[in-house]
Amino acid sequence: MTDCSMAADSSQPGQQTSVASDTYVCRTVVDAKLATSEEVQACLAKQKKLRASGRHVSLAEIMVRAGVVTVSQLKRLKNRGDDTMSHSFQQIPGFHILQKIGAGAMASVYKARQLSLDRIVAIKVLPKRLSEDPAFVERFYKEGRAAAKLSHNNIVQAIDVGEHGGYHYFVMEYVEEGRTVYDEQVKKHAYSEQDALDVVIQIAKALEHAHARGLIHRDVKPKNIMITKDGTAKLADMGLAREADDAAAAVEEKGRAYGTPYYISPEQIRGVEDVDFRADIYSLGATFYHMVTGRVPFEGTSPAAIMQKHLREPLVPPDHINSDLSAGLGEVVERAMAKDRNTRYQSTRDLLMDLEMVKRGEAPVQAHANYDDKLLKDLAGGADEEAGFTDSSSSPKPLPALPKPGYVIPMIVGLIIQFILIVILLAVIIAG
Ligand SMILES: Nc1ncnc2c1ncn2[C@@H]1O[C@H](COP(=O)(O)OP(=O)(O)O)[C@@H](O)[C@H]1O
Ligand SMILES: [Mg+2]
Repeated sequence: MTDCSMAADSSQPGQQTSVASDTYVCRTVVDAKLATSEEVQACLAKQKKLRASGRHVSLAEIMVRAGVVTVSQLKRLKNRGDDTMSHSFQQIPGFHILQKIGAGAMASVYKARQLSLDRIVAIKVLPKRLSEDPAFVERFYKEGRAAAKLSHNNIVQAIDVGEHGGYHYFVMEYVEEGRTVYDEQVKKHAYSEQDALDVVIQIAKALEHAHARGLIHRDVKPKNIMITKDGTAKLADMGLAREADDAAAAVEEKGRAYGTPYYISPEQIRGVEDVDFRADIYSLGATFYHMVTGRVPFEGTSPAAIMQKHLREPLVPPDHINSDLSAGLGEVVERAMAKDRNTRYQSTRDLLMDLEMVKRGEAPVQAHANYDDKLLKDLAGGADEEAGFTDSSSSPKPLPALPKPGYVIPMIVGLIIQFILIVILLAVIIAG
């Protein structure tokens, strides 16, 4: 028998956490039969020796260095560890957890049976630390209740919110074989214009429904668009209040894969308090951009660099990247992704109408209407920009400069005088 309690033999104060994780690693490696009892004992002895010489090295590191286990084996064990958390959920009154089906940046998702209605649901379990933030908990319940009132074929139905054993959870419709647009993108790189329009139009419908009822999503992205077996697109995580906005999460994560703000609106980056439906319009535009070009709108080596680009860098129009795309699609994306929300589509309905026109092969009327408005305003010197940044991606291209009226008359008079002088000169030459 391996004595994993040896790992807990710490004389150093303040090492309780690493000791707890050493004990956990020891137990799970042995339980999973990844290593023999002797191998683990040898690693524990080595750890003890190092500790005696004043060095604390984790058991996991010692085992990897000794070639007893691999890093990927340890990672798989960690995921299993997440699953063991679900055992406490088997106690949630009314649900029986079946299996873990996914994990995102903030939470894990489980497939479960709702006993009362004998149906399969998905339960998203949030990390325990979130319960310690009362403002988060309040938003979680408020938005969860609002989302449960929505009913739309293109929205993953919110069913319930609750708390058990210190974990907050969100019960929702289970999407069988839950593929996301992200998964499909990984497989096929880019969507054709028509295929992308099919999905984006459905999500615009979902947003129109939610926005009309005062709900904003705040996290529209390929991973939050699920495709059912019959090809219906459904917007997931509607009503799931976010822990913090992406900007804060991304800065904290310092370049790690998650929390990377590829689709976030400039106003969310700037942390404006009254984020409204236009943030979703931007994120859907960015998602659409990725779907048809195979590239995110702005790339960068760190989340901060990407966010800077959302704020300031002009967008390369999608139809310049993929020449198969229609100009109309390019105009819709550019309008949706205007940096200044005042120059974006001013209603989700307008966006939807344009998407449907592009799908029919027509020119997007709303994009043009807004474009002309903006052009007239610019010419009148009254561009409605938000303070502190310029909307470089969507500003109409400047017209060639015309002389101002004040200079035109003196110019004409000058030309006439020149002409008269030349005529006089010619007359003198001829006469002479
Ligand atoms: N309602 C659902 N039905 C089926 N699978 C789901 C559902 N919600 C989420 N999933 C799966 O769980 C994964 C993780 O979801 P989530 O925690 O929301 O993370 P993210 O949105 O960052 O990918 C998804 O990518 C998807 O595969
Ligand atoms: Mg999600």
